[in-house]
Amino acid sequence: MNRTFGEFSAVAVAHPNIALLKYWGKRDREFVLPVTGSISMTLDIFPTTTRVTLVPGTSADRVTLNGRPADDETFARVSTFLDLVRDRTDRTDRAMVDSANTAPTGAGLASSSSGFAALAAAAAAAYNLKLNARDLSRLARRGSGSACRSVFDGFVEWHAGIGSGRHGDNSSFAEPIETPRWNPALAIALVDTGPKAIPSRTAMQATIQSSPLYLAWAFSTLHDLPAMRAAIRDGDLTTVGAIAESNALGMHATMLAARPSICYLSPPTISILHRVTELRKGGVAAYATIDAGPNVAVLCDVSAASQVLKELGDIDGVLATHLARPGHGVRVYDGNVA
Ligand code: PMV
Repeated sequence: MNRTFGEFSAVAVAHPNIALLKYWGKRDREFVLPVTGSISMTLDIFPTTTRVTLVPGTSADRVTLNGRPADDETFARVSTFLDLVRDRTDRTDRAMVDSANTAPTGAGLASSSSGFAALAAAAAAAYNLKLNARDLSRLARRGSGSACRSVFDGFVEWHAGIGSGRHGDNSSFAEPIETPRWNPALAIALVDTGPKAIPSRTAMQATIQSSPLYLAWAFSTLHDLPAMRAAIRDGDLTTVGAIAESNALGMHATMLAARPSICYLSPPTISILHRVTELRKGGVAAYATIDAGPNVAVLCDVSAASQVLKELGDIDGVLATHLARPGHGVRVYDGNVA
């Protein structure tokens, strides 16, 4: 990415997060308000770097993704998001957005979380919109729900909030969870790096509308949320992992029961789940979680990570493995230099 900065230009770097308690379903689609609260870990790998530069006098935004013009759908999403920022300022200028992603886009590795967290922070800085971290998370949420959690370091809770519309908007934000000294890691097994067949926002809507299991899963998070929050504060990896695994499998169960059924799990995904169970039988505290895609992230202590990575790497169909530790929230590297 070239690094000449004009007036009203800013660069932000954000990392993806992996939810340990999933966000799956909106109660308000316009304001991106979730049905349930969720909890995630911000990763220290796969950053997205996004530069926003205001271009006064032009009539349309310009968006490039990894050096190529964005497709129509991505362009519309980004431009609509920039409108939210412009609505909050007295500047109407269009902008040039350059975003470079290091995660395989669309493969269930939450690149939309780092993407919209970086876009929110860079756009706010470029348009000189002063936001505290909580309000930045509320803004990022409008781009992609999970992005609100990538604003913060490490373990993060996104509060569902109360009500809909403006009221819900004010009460639905992310904030970090304090952690003790512990050494969690996520061993990530990639089994597919192509774009997913069904985008998560379409799948979650279809699940809410047609899955008889959806409400049962949503209710279960009412117990899971406080239990996981407490376990994270205690550094209790076993409890965090056990809740995370059942929450994720429950989310996939809601999709499998949707009409028509939505299945993101591929044969290697299932093999990984079995291997993780075997690892636990062998005394290794390892717990799987799966987003809206076939890839699997396995929570373990960093001392067990090389063994877990090796076991995952040996499974047929696993293309690559990566180790992630808790990482930084979004950072703006060059603010408004006007
Ligand atoms: O933020 P979205 O619209 O990409 O949805 C993310 C959904 C999951 O990744 C499956 C769960 C989560 O909480 O990140």
